[in-house]
Amino acid sequence: MIQKYDRRNDNIKVLINGKLYDRSSAKISVFDSLIQGGDGVWEGLRIYDGYIFALEKHINRLLESAKSLMFENIPSKKTILSSIMKTLIANKMFTDVHVRLTLSRGKKITSGMNPKLNQYGCTLIVLAEWKPPIYLNRNLKLITSSIRRNTPLFLDSKIHHNNLLNNILAKIEANNYGADDSIMLDLNGFISETNSTNIFMIKDNIIYTPTSKFCLPGITRELIISICKSHNISIIEKDISISELYNADQVFTTGTMGEIAEVVEVDNRKIKNTNIDMIENLKSLFNKLKTKEELLTKIISKS
Ligand SMILES: Cc1ncc(COP(=O)(O)O)c(C=O)c1O
Repeated sequence: MIQKYDRRNDNIKVLINGKLYDRSSAKISVFDSLIQGGDGVWEGLRIYDGYIFALEKHINRLLESAKSLMFENIPSKKTILSSIMKTLIANKMFTDVHVRLTLSRGKKITSGMNPKLNQYGCTLIVLAEWKPPIYLNRNLKLITSSIRRNTPLFLDSKIHHNNLLNNILAKIEANNYGADDSIMLDLNGFISETNSTNIFMIKDNIIYTPTSKFCLPGITRELIISICKSHNISIIEKDISISELYNADQVFTTGTMGEIAEVVEVDNRKIKNTNIDMIENLKSLFNKLKTKEELLTKIISKS
């Protein structure tokens, strides 16, 4: 599964530190921390019918990640919000859009690792593209990666950082096997998440998902858990081994980029696919959240 180039994105405007640039001239300095060390944090946002979905949660996570990494002169929530609005309005993007929001530690006075070399403040990038959910109507094939998901012992996955090599190595393995994504295990051999999404399984009408000890506790994951709790659907967070996943009735992944996506195969084992109703129900409950006021920020009125 590979995303295709979308011609609608030929002439998009990209915002960097408050200024809009054409796609071809949207560039950051070679001294920026993103280039020097992948030293940035990011969020993916979705726009539905004139609203930004779960914006508050995404901005909070971005700011928490920046605080964990001790960025200085972090832009305020208001600045981040107005930058997103400015970009969407300039591009006339009101639905079917994905926004990649990136905040780096900023430009350095010379190349090097030390954050003391960062003397200009953060770099904020808003990249909005026409992009429907990427796993829409796809039946995913996954493999188990030999690369373990980062543990808090080394680099906490709860920081949503741009140093994505841990995930990229796992994605390369998926590519090498012709799979869509890789499942990453934790240090103890239990499932953590895929290289880009959280993972769930259904067995005997109970939904299971790995605990958030090692994974990024995704915003979509959190919303699915709260849907289950408020609709009396049994959901259990626990350590899940890969053989439990092979024998699940259903497996699905969650994330802002791809929403809820069914998995049909893991390591060449076909998933039974015997509880379609439960996934369809979850999808329709999730779709209803897209009209839930507390999760929506109107694009025009807040600009
Ligand atoms: C590694 C990883 N897991 C899970 C997710 C899904 O998180 P969310 O639901 O907040 O988009 C992401 C999204 O960026 C991710 O990078």
